[in-house]
Amino acid sequence: MSDKKISEVRRELDQLAARPQSSEDFMAAIVKLLHDRMLRYNWVGFYMLEPDANPPVLALGAFQGAMTPHARIPLNQGICGAAASIGKTVVVDDVTQDSRYLACSIETKSEIVVPIFNGGKVVGELDIDSHFPAAFSGEDRELVEYCASLVGRHLEKVRT
Ligand code: SME
Repeated sequence: MSDKKISEVRRELDQLAARPQSSEDFMAAIVKLLHDRMLRYNWVGFYMLEPDANPPVLALGAFQGAMTPHARIPLNQGICGAAASIGKTVVVDDVTQDSRYLACSIETKSEIVVPIFNGGKVVGELDIDSHFPAAFSGEDRELVEYCASLVGRHLEKVRT
């Protein structure tokens, strides 16, 4: 992935973030941008923690790519559940080697999940699957973490 492409996508993200819109519309625009522009990002979606659910569960939000069988994921399941539980980015270069992995598509080879924080608490995450092994380099990780931080800031802005 060229630095130029990443910096262009970042600029487009900043333009999206500056536009007045609901957090739902902002998240839908982010998944579309990443899915359209980042050719190895074959499935891009948000999972958000359902408010007041007990036990806690992640519910599928805006996404681009094939419909997943995992529309709701408890925190003790999947790479998604792991990233939300520990509040840290999880990168899996080869999903066949990770026993936590919940299959979404038979074509998926690698995955990144980045938590989203609002008021210091995990409120959701951005999940990306790739048909290519080890698709998420350090600069991809920075880009996806940047997207998650923009969403966190957006949520904080609309809720204060
Ligand atoms: N692979 C994820 C499940 C979600 S799908 O990838 C869209 C996981 O292991 O949690």
